Amino acid sequence: MMPLQKLLLNINRMRKTLVICMASLIISAVSLSGQQSADISVLANKPVCDIQPTMWGVFFEDINFAADGGIYAELIKNRSFEFTLPLMGWDEVSQNGSGRLLPTFYSPADDINPHFLTVVVDAPAGTFGLMNDGFRGIGVRNGNSYNFSVNARISENSGIKMKVDLIDPKGGVIGGTEIIGLTTQWSKFQSVITASRTESMAKLRVLFSGKGSVDLDMVSLFPTDTWKNRPGGLRRDIVEKIADMRPGFVRFPGGCIVEGRNLTNRYQWKTTVGPVEERKLIINRWNMEMQNHQTPDYFQSFGMGFFEYFQLAEDIGAEPLPILNCGMSCQFNAGEVVPMTEIGQYIQDALDLIEFANGSATTPWGKVRVSMGHPAPFNLKFIGVGNEQWDEQYIERYREFEKVLHQRHPEIKIVSGAGPSPSGKLFDYAWSELKKLSPALIDEHYYMPPSWFMKNATRYDNYDRNGIKVFAGEYAAHSREAEAPESRNSWLSALAEAAFMTGLDRNAAVVNMASYAPLLAHVDAWQWRPDLIWFDNLNCIGTPNYYVQKMFSTHKGNKEIPVLNAGKPLTGTDSLYASASSDGSTGELYIKLVNTSRSAKPVRMAPEGYSFQKMGVIEILTSAGLYDYNTIEKPKLIYPVEKQISMEGKKLSVTLDPWSVNVIVLKYKK
Ligand code: AHR
Repeated sequence: MMPLQKLLLNINRMRKTLVICMASLIISAVSLSGQQSADISVLANKPVCDIQPTMWGVFFEDINFAADGGIYAELIKNRSFEFTLPLMGWDEVSQNGSGRLLPTFYSPADDINPHFLTVVVDAPAGTFGLMNDGFRGIGVRNGNSYNFSVNARISENSGIKMKVDLIDPKGGVIGGTEIIGLTTQWSKFQSVITASRTESMAKLRVLFSGKGSVDLDMVSLFPTDTWKNRPGGLRRDIVEKIADMRPGFVRFPGGCIVEGRNLTNRYQWKTTVGPVEERKLIINRWNMEMQNHQTPDYFQSFGMGFFEYFQLAEDIGAEPLPILNCGMSCQFNAGEVVPMTEIGQYIQDALDLIEFANGSATTPWGKVRVSMGHPAPFNLKFIGVGNEQWDEQYIERYREFEKVLHQRHPEIKIVSGAGPSPSGKLFDYAWSELKKLSPALIDEHYYMPPSWFMKNATRYDNYDRNGIKVFAGEYAAHSREAEAPESRNSWLSALAEAAFMTGLDRNAAVVNMASYAPLLAHVDAWQWRPDLIWFDNLNCIGTPNYYVQKMFSTHKGNKEIPVLNAGKPLTGTDSLYASASSDGSTGELYIKLVNTSRSAKPVRMAPEGYSFQKMGVIEILTSAGLYDYNTIEKPKLIYPVEKQISMEGKKLSVTLDPWSVNVIVLKYKK
């Protein structure tokens, strides 16, 4: 068994025990509760510290078909015939005709995109061709238009005709076009197909008639309706979901994908920029990683590469946080490390990335960015060195990166990592060694049971206020259910994360960045669960965990405000958790209250030091069942609702729903 799976199994075992503990925790909380009001003071006039604009962000990793088949809107799988099996995703089709599909090598050799497809056609009175099944089907909407393009040439004197159709699962044509003007020279042909029906499992059929041969490469289909209508761009609905969270940063490209299963398979940003047909495709390291969720057709075309990433971060007003390979492949897999004598090329990649993002047009990499259509710098401020590495080998390599980066780019904040676990020998070792160095932030990861999250609402209370800052870079509550070994995005998991996040909020002096992980998953092609946002070929939905993230992120504020009950922060007393912040620019006070008990909780608050407008708002997220979750069919089973609330003089009384996450918004009086 692979080590990562072993780790997951152990986590699952732990979860089982902890879910039981969790249930008893909830029961004991219920017995303590009663209906007495909790009196809370909110010291609006005593801000503790600044909250960083980067506080709540997102973690993008190309896992679960997040990039190809997900946010990257290309609808054709294996468009350039470069998968290990060059015809994967394609099937032969014919009617009163015959022929052959022959993957062929370019001559002279092309290192980046070595194959094209030769279609030998013998169909003077019929048709022969091929059909692509998309990424678990092709999603099209009635009336929407789709840009088809292909690089093609035909053999001499062949007179071959080419027709392209969208086909529904019953074989009906639901849109099509003809490609005319094929010659013996390679040329790019483009045409628009309009769908006559909405269909989530369509296919694309390319048919030829006549006799001869035709060569094809880069067979592509994109919706014209992409994010910002960019041709060859990103899926609008998925980007909108991310943008709606107003994240402070976007971490990219992961995750273990940064590391690769071995060093050859690591993520190399330089192969992800420039014209798409010149980006070298590789196997996605997640394709066969998970025993029960194997996806042999999972590759990285890098259509969503580093340029598109920087552009996305800029579009949605988030800081980019690229994570780079530090000369180590995944320690759960091959665990290869580059010798220290060769670490220079990895550090050079980091320096070149900074130049690509921020350099002028006169620098070699700045010039590449400008040639891609972005003359202005992307203002990169952070860089992550290594993903989830551990032990001396990491520290040794990190030290070299830090030395050079600090010297050459003192303006860039470096994010280092504490490894895969939230505690233990390796975690302690990483912290003790990194404290001797000077990263701006240390990335901590925790995929733990809900009870851990509730208990750890106090995790950062005793971290050094003046020490290295924390990036809670990957976290998610994993709660095992009877019918599935992998966790769902249950209401219990979201509730526990919310309780924990009040602890991050209360410790904004220590925690400067936090991101749930992973971000995206295709319902028919995932490897890892839970995930923040789920999608199929037509729809995209938020999980309860997503709404929790959104509630915190859109009510971030810029000053941390103390919330006290009997002089102490609320960190689970009588199942209540709380944090607060104020926002000078909106003139608002945000009070976050989480009730993890099955009973309603009356709460009486006295926001101190300022006067507030009488009417305020409470946003509530709750569900009747702890194991409820949202689906494509019922995307709003767990969904925030807003209610008006009214101050009584200087006091505010609310009753928190059982198992609820609440954000109260009060407006300061001018
Ligand atoms: O988020 C999924 C994986 O979890 C990430 O790739 C890795 O960093 C962690 O182990």
